[in-house]
Order: sequence, then C-alpha cells, then structure tokens
Amino acid sequence: MNSDSPTWSPRTKAAQALGWVDERTRAVTPAIHPSTTFIRDADNQHRAGYSYSRDENPTYDQAEALLAELEGGAGAMLFASGMAAATAVFHTLRAGDHVVAQEVMYWGLRRWIKDFADRYGIEVSFVATWDLDALAQAVRPGATKLVWIETPANPMWHVVDIAGAAEIAHRAGARLAVDSTVATPVLTRPLGLGADLVMHAGTKYLNGHSDVVAGALVTREADEDWQALGLVRHDGGAVLGPFEAWLLLRGMRTLPLRVVESSRTALTLARRLVGHDRVGEVLYPGLQSHPGHALAARQMEGGFGAMLSIRTKGGEAAAIRTAANVALWKRATSLGGVESLIEHRASVEGPGTPVPSDLLRLSVGLEDPDDLIQDLEAALDAV
Ligand SMILES: Cc1ncc(COP(=O)(O)O)c(C=O)c1O
Repeated sequence: MNSDSPTWSPRTKAAQALGWVDERTRAVTPAIHPSTTFIRDADNQHRAGYSYSRDENPTYDQAEALLAELEGGAGAMLFASGMAAATAVFHTLRAGDHVVAQEVMYWGLRRWIKDFADRYGIEVSFVATWDLDALAQAVRPGATKLVWIETPANPMWHVVDIAGAAEIAHRAGARLAVDSTVATPVLTRPLGLGADLVMHAGTKYLNGHSDVVAGALVTREADEDWQALGLVRHDGGAVLGPFEAWLLLRGMRTLPLRVVESSRTALTLARRLVGHDRVGEVLYPGLQSHPGHALAARQMEGGFGAMLSIRTKGGEAAAIRTAANVALWKRATSLGGVESLIEHRASVEGPGTPVPSDLLRLSVGLEDPDDLIQDLEAALDAV
C-alpha cells in the first residue's frame, strides 16, 4: 500500500482514499475481503496481521485510516451501526460510575443510555450541555467518567462548545465523547478542540447514499481506554460486514464535496424559510437568530451543516399536513443522504420527547436548491 502525503488537503485525501494502491494488482480501489478466517504461518504466527474476521477484516483498514486522518485522530474503529459505536463507549464503564449526557440529542441513544444506566448501576445526569455553567455544575470530580455531547444536536441543532466541555470534563477526571455525525470532519474536528473520542453514525454523511448502516469511533490517543474499546468490539462482535465497509469507503471519497454543497443549500433554504408566513421559527445554526450561531461560526468551518428544523404555525396538524404535501422531499427518517428528507420528529420519538409537536426536521441533500424550496413552499402554502 502507498502512504499518503501529509501535505494533501482533506478533500484530496478523501478523493484518493489516502492514495492507497493494491501492491499486487495495482488496483486503485481496494478489494473486498469476505474471508472470515486467515491462515497461520507454519510457526503458528499471524504475520499478515489478520486471524479472524470478527474485527480483523482487511476491508476495514483503508476506511478506518481515512477516517482517522480526516478527524486528526490516532486511530478509528468501524462498528455495525452508529448505535453499536456509541454503546461500545458506555460498555467500558463500571457500576457506580457517573455520566453526564446531553438533555436533547439523538433520541434513540438518549433512551438507550437511560435504560442501560438503570440496569447496570451507572448514574446518569441529563444536562443542557450547551450551557457550560450547567455542565460544570453537573460533573462530579472523581466520579464522573464520561461526558457525552452531540453538536449540532438533533433536532433543535443546539451547538455545544467542545473546547469548553473538554476542559470541564478533564478537570473532573472524565473523558469527553462527541457525536459528530451531523458536523462530520469536514465542518468540525472535535479531537483538535480537546475531545477524547468522536463518534459517527456512518449511516449518515460518511456513507452518504442511504444504503449502508455503519458506525465509527475515532480516538485522540491510542491509550488504554482505546484498547478497552477494541476489546468491547472484539468480544461484543457488533462489527461491520466487509461489503458495507467497502461501500462506506466509497462514500467517504466524496464526503467533503457533499457536505459543503448540502450545507450551502441548507443555509439558502433556512434564510428563505424565515420569511414564510406559515413558518413560526427556523432552527439552523447558520442563522444569526440561532442561539448557537456565534459559537458555530467559531467552531465550524466551511458551513453550518445540512440539517435544519422548522416549527410550523398551526401546531402538530399543520406540521404533519406539510410533510404529507411534499412531492420532491422524501417523508422518511434518517439524514445525511444525497436525497432530501422531511420528518415529523415528535411522532418518531413518542411520549416524553422534548421535541415540540410542530417541528419538522429537514435533511438537505444534493438536489437543485430551487426545486427543494419550491416543493417545500408549495407544501406549506397548501396546508
Ligand atoms: C446523530 C445520530 N447519532 C447516532 C445515530 C445512530 O446511528 P445508527 O442508526 O447508524 O445506529 C443517529 C441515527 O439517526 C443519529 O442521527
């Protein structure tokens, strides 16, 4: 394999997937290795570095190396899903440990953390981590082992100060993990701001084509905690298949272009929707009216992300009718694909959700911005 040049820009590194070339065939794209097992050398060693494919598959190597490089990390690990990656971090905790997790974030993980903490004797405080004073009050020096944040966070797009959160976590003796699925390494590099771990639902922007479920963790340091996470993956077995790993790498090659372009469209759309008479509020960190705008402008580079939400006038019924009226936008859950999606979040999250019932979440894809605006405005007007 060829190694990359450190002077290449992230876009070049991604486009060439670090420039690795298969030495035997000179192929510019990697092979898919379906083999589950690898032959030992005669003296009982595994010098090629692979023994059994539960977590040692050569198809992972290039995808993990590229993601680690884009995040500026010491290593990356692929998992079977974003949830598998996130839950692996919690599986390294011990009974009695205290965790601070974000009050409004990807709902599936918030629900899981609560249940996991109850069952396994872990204390969890759900906190508005975008308020650093609240975070500082919530950590318990010596007892808090993990601070978990997401930024920008589903589905109100709260922006959390990563450097500030890292300082507070570290002062208390805790590690900071960041769900950076929405920002991607194109817009934010949390490890450079002091975070210890970055998590991605690779299902979203990293893959980008709504055809792979995948997850990943990236570490700042290849330390003991990273080794413990490796063991969780090895023993827990929530690993990605080689075909999915191959598709993920293919998706990552266009990541910078997709993220920048869809973020640009999201900003255009957000600005346009602000003036619409059926829209009560537009939630998007790129708007000056958003409480996290100034921080996002400092912490994010190249765009404010391709996710936004609108609160429709007329409550839940108007929101659901708007989603029913679209022709081009797809009424579906998930985010980060080339096609734009619209979703009534409160219906998905169910009773107890902190999400207002008049909120529609928009994942902006790569269509022509004018087509997206026309379709959404027509849907709003027809309510
Ligand atoms: C921000 C965020 N984190 C984590 C996840 C979980 O990822 P997966 O569905 O791949 O398990 C999602 C899924 O929607 C997400 O949006």
